[in-house]
Amino acid sequence: MLENLTPQPPDALLALIKLYSDDARTDKIDLGVGVYRTGQGDTPVFAAIKAAEQRLVEQQDTKAYLGPEGDMGFVNSLMPHIFGADATMGGRISGMQTPGGTGAVRLAVALAQKAGVERLHMGRPSWPNHAQILSDIELEMVPFEHASDDGTANIEAVLGVIKSAQPNDAILLHGACHNPTGIDYTPEEWDAIAAVLAESGVFPIIDIAYQGLGQGMEEDAYGLRRVLGAVPEAFIAYSCDKNFGLYRDRVGAFYAMAREVNDLESIFSNANALARASWSMPPDHGGAAVRIVLRDGELTKQWLDELTQMRDRMRQVRNTLAKADVAGSVELKPLGRQNGLFGMLPVTPEQVKQLRDDHAIYMASSGRINIAGLHMGNIEKFIEAIAEVAA
Ligand code: LMR
Repeated sequence: MLENLTPQPPDALLALIKLYSDDARTDKIDLGVGVYRTGQGDTPVFAAIKAAEQRLVEQQDTKAYLGPEGDMGFVNSLMPHIFGADATMGGRISGMQTPGGTGAVRLAVALAQKAGVERLHMGRPSWPNHAQILSDIELEMVPFEHASDDGTANIEAVLGVIKSAQPNDAILLHGACHNPTGIDYTPEEWDAIAAVLAESGVFPIIDIAYQGLGQGMEEDAYGLRRVLGAVPEAFIAYSCDKNFGLYRDRVGAFYAMAREVNDLESIFSNANALARASWSMPPDHGGAAVRIVLRDGELTKQWLDELTQMRDRMRQVRNTLAKADVAGSVELKPLGRQNGLFGMLPVTPEQVKQLRDDHAIYMASSGRINIAGLHMGNIEKFIEAIAEVAA
């Protein structure tokens, strides 16, 4: 039977990791997968996480199973950072741990479908795995254009799809640091989105995988909190893989805001059943480390300081790119006012290949770059290479 399986292409983004590591050129630049790098090009473990892991090793006295909901201490400790002072909206929000943000998105979409969602509106472009998850779950995706040509959000498009949506429609929104464009809605735009969502009855699923890497932990939560304040119910997919640097430990959480507190029991009994049938329970280690950080004032401060350093460094890179004088077809200026790890260069797949072949610069074929892959030691080379392929 097994010869019936047709070969699938490797995930294009993850394939870049291997292509890059196989390249022997010493001045190569990795702008592929979304991993933060320091000014020296490293991705170190956060000091706050190292300290928490140390405590975990010393204090953990069992590896016995938790339930499908994972470490609820972790899930609950995150809530004030995501949802603000009234972290539960009067008890209407609850959550569970998931394997990374991907697990949270998958659970959110599958549960929305189980609850009756028939179509999901999604901005284009989006993180490629969003479409893959929808296709795997067999939920119909209805695309709208996320960005305008000038590098800002196409607010008319998103408001338009919400206003003209059908019953049983959902919409997937990026909470902050849009992947792949870096183009976030402004606070005023979020206000408008929240208002039309409240009127339309469209079910919001908010994917927030980069909180703190845009403008700050509070600032990056503005849109999410605004929407939750306006609508009766919503799902939230959260990732700690970037803002705690836990990538391979796969640390995420799924939250649901219900119309009534009483609805949560049924929602999470379904979420637990879906999780049990998919991954049974999430890996524990990273979530436990985050819980230790968030329950300790000193470690929380240290973590927030580390996050601020990352954000500031990416802002510097963005400012340098925005000021670069690149004649030709590739405009870098919009990168200066965008957020987070990513931005899109208006380059063709051929130019992406040329950058890889001739300059050892690796990026997704869509033209998405990981801003954090650039630093003072390689940014000049990058700008010169862009100028060459754009000429
Ligand atoms: C990315 O977009 O590069 C990250 O979210 C990593 C991933 O899983 O794709």
